[in-house]
Amino acid sequence: MLKIDLTGKKAFVAGIGDDQGFGWAIAKALAEAGAEIIVGTWTPLMKIFQTGLENGKFDKSRVLSDGSLLQFAKIYALDASFDKMEDVPEEIKENKRYKGVEAYTIQDVAKLIQQDFGSIDYLVHSLANGPEVQKALLDTSRNGYLASLSASSYSFISLLAHLGPLMNPGGSTLSLTYIASEKAIPGYGGGMSSAKAALESDTRVLAWEAGRKWNIRVNTISAGPWGSRAAKAIGFVEKMVNYTQSNAPLQKDFTPVEVGNVAAFLLSPLASAITGETVHVDNGMHAMGMAVDSCSLNAVKE
Ligand SMILES: NC(=O)c1ccc[n+]([C@@H]2O[C@H](COP(=O)([O-])OP(=O)(O)OC[C@H]3O[C@@H](n4cnc5c(N)ncnc54)[C@H](O)[C@@H]3O)[C@@H](O)[C@H]2O)c1
Repeated sequence: MLKIDLTGKKAFVAGIGDDQGFGWAIAKALAEAGAEIIVGTWTPLMKIFQTGLENGKFDKSRVLSDGSLLQFAKIYALDASFDKMEDVPEEIKENKRYKGVEAYTIQDVAKLIQQDFGSIDYLVHSLANGPEVQKALLDTSRNGYLASLSASSYSFISLLAHLGPLMNPGGSTLSLTYIASEKAIPGYGGGMSSAKAALESDTRVLAWEAGRKWNIRVNTISAGPWGSRAAKAIGFVEKMVNYTQSNAPLQKDFTPVEVGNVAAFLLSPLASAITGETVHVDNGMHAMGMAVDSCSLNAVKE
């Protein structure tokens, strides 16, 4: 039987803060395949996520198909907008959600992973942030635009640069992107569309560089809309979910589990010849060039 078997493999999944997002679904799929899961959680969410785990808030979502609970080998606080502690502004260091946490930059987390685990096999980047995402691109400030790129695109380059040397040859990496990189999606503003376009372009360039340097693969999944915590913050995700249900080739619900399954495949040796690829997991929505539910279609009599 053809099987995804990741027994003995270690995956670092950056961008889990609850059980609602793609990062959680990917971690769960990788655990189902036998991998050990190491997590990076945004520093301000660290306490609330850990408390939730301890209090059993996520127990229902943690159940794996054999009845056991999804386990995390370690959870590190991570702010992927910063490469080293010297880069962190004083007001962030002093912020109550950061104060007392000693090491959370990409360099710190890479060092901790090396110390605690020696090496890893997989890197998953499931994080994004655009402080001005609700603003049209024309209204986006330079700082807002650069912040989107920093948190959502450069963060992947930096994670790969720091973790690549720890990755076992044959390892694989994955990020999450969105169709707004390819097509105009009104409402996905603040430079987030630009950040996703950069992420997809970087996927190709990094596939070349990391492939030759470490024998590591680099891919990205372009996921359909899903009402995660991050997406709800954008504000228009329910509309995009409805739009996809009405117009996509596949008329079924789209779920993070489907992203988790493709992620497990792409990271696994079954996908050993796939790198530099943007894989759409969106019920086929990306293939459409027409909104079949548009009322303007009915305005013209045939
Ligand atoms: N939900 C959607 O509709 C959708 C569609 C396509 C792609 N995506 C992408 O999927 C990925 C995961 O998002 P999600 O929708 O599952 O939401 P999510 O809220 O579960 O995940 C986003 C995570 O990013 C973390 N984060 C934000 N800034 C960070 C930083 N500076 N350092 C470290 N972590 C940080 C947040 O705490 C959160 O845990 C993102 O890249 C997102 O753009 C989402």
